[in-house]
This record gives sequence, C-alpha cells and structure tokens, in this order.
Amino acid sequence: MTTQDKLTKTLDERTTILKDSDVVNEIKTAIDKVLLDKSTSFTTIRCLGLGPISDSSNAMYQLSLLNILVKHLFKENENFNISLWDPIFTKDETTYLETIPNFKVEETFETKEIGKTLFYMPHFPIGAFEELINQYKPKYILSNDLMVYYYKQPEAKFFENSLNCARLAQLILKKSETKSDTTTEQKSEDDGFQLPTKKKNRKKTNSIKHTPIIINYDFESAYFNDVKATNITKGNILDNQWTSSFSDMCFMEIISES
Ligand SMILES: C[S@@+](CC[C@H](N)C(=O)[O-])C[C@H]1O[C@@H](n2cnc3c(N)ncnc32)[C@H](O)[C@@H]1O
Repeated sequence: MTTQDKLTKTLDERTTILKDSDVVNEIKTAIDKVLLDKSTSFTTIRCLGLGPISDSSNAMYQLSLLNILVKHLFKENENFNISLWDPIFTKDETTYLETIPNFKVEETFETKEIGKTLFYMPHFPIGAFEELINQYKPKYILSNDLMVYYYKQPEAKFFENSLNCARLAQLILKKSETKSDTTTEQKSEDDGFQLPTKKKNRKKTNSIKHTPIIINYDFESAYFNDVKATNITKGNILDNQWTSSFSDMCFMEIISES
C-alpha cells in the first residue's frame, strides 16, 4: 500500500469513528449558532499547525475533524477554499492533502473575506497565535482556550508576550465574572462557557501583602472590543480513541465595533 493509500484509509476510518461523537456535535453547534445569529456563512477555512498527519494520531483526528466540518459547512458544488500550512508537513503529506478536493497547502495566505474565514488551529503555539491575530485580525477561530495560558503564567508576562491573546483572555474573564453574578434562571440560557479555576494556595506562610499589578490593557487600540467564547468541553473527556486531540479547545467570535 502506498503512503497516499494509507493516509486515505486512515482518514476514512478516523472520520467514521469521530463523525457522530459528542465533541463533534458540540463544535458544530457552537459554530452553527454564531453563523445563524449573524446570518452568515464561511467561504474559507485556514488550518494551521495540524502536525505530522502520517505519524501523529492527534494530527490525523484533527484532520478528520476538518474533513467533517468541510462536509458540514459547505455544499459539494460550492466555491470554497481549504488552505493549510504547517512547516512540518512532508512532501508526501502535502501531496496527499492536495488530493482532497478544495485543499491547498500554502505558507502564504491571502483573503479579502476575513469575516467569512474560519481559522482552525488545534493546539497552536501561543506565539504564532499572537502573530496570526496581528497579521489577519481574524473574526472566527477554533483553537486553543486562551484562559489556559492566562492561568499558566503571570498575567504581566502573558500581557507582555502576547498582547492580543491577553486582551481576549481579559474580555473572556470579565464576561465569566459577570455571568457568575447572574441568577440560576439566566444561567440556563448561557453559551456553555466554563472558566478553569485557579488553584488556591492553601498554605499562607507569611503575611507580606502584595500589591496587585495593574495592567492597562489599552483596549481602545485593539481591533476588537468584545469576544464570544464557547469552550469545547467534550474535548476534555480523554477516554476516547481520539484521547487529547481536542483538549482545551475553544470557538471564538471576535467582535469589532465597526
Ligand atoms: C503543539 S504542535 C500541535 C500539533 C497537533 N496539532 C497536535 O495537537 O498534536 C504545534 C504545531 O504547529 C506548527 N506550527 C508552528 N508554528 C506554525 C506556524 N506559524 N504556522 C503553521 N504551523 C505552525 C508546528 O510545526 C507543530 O506541528
């Protein structure tokens, strides 16, 4: 069997395993809700950082999700583009990916329709995530839950290294704080967002008071002023064949004033 045949077979098998799963349904529902609210649709998916699809089970399951989303979001005879890039792709992987209808592997990506582009970047490095936000000013992203990075490092460091990601995390945080003040009745209508909790320091060994650092997020200079984030909670259930392929995922609609 050739590499191309093996990849086709594996993609078909994984797609069959994944297609009716809870995690896929959760992702489809999150995306459909936003598209319906905005009466819009996508013309393009830009997929970054998929990883080595021949060697990595996570990367192959993430490609299967892309395959499922393409069938869900586009009609067969429709004009749409699936643009992919990962510097790790081998020649064989690139050749294979480009046999899939409408798929193109390209480092450079240009679009005039950013509002109709879904950026799909499973487990994308935070530095590249920040660069992407600066370069493209995306509106729709299916990628990492930024709150995970927020809680992983000191706020000032996150702000310094990844300004726009830190701003988005701040907006998500503020919303979740407002939500936790709402009544149970209102909560039942929320969008499913759940905030990861910071571990409490149980031992209070000294009484030195730390003055909290005040960060000026300068939201006025950002291209966005709001974000709707839906955590893909089912991706954190690891007891599946696809294990951690969809862990810490989030679908974001980034909202600008204009
Ligand atoms: C943490 S790995 C994730 C791989 C896979 N998606 C997974 O979940 O196992 C990050 C991937 O992003 C790719 N990557 C890093 N910078 C990138 C960039 N600027 N554009 C596209 N891919 C990039 C790396 O080559 C690597 O395959």
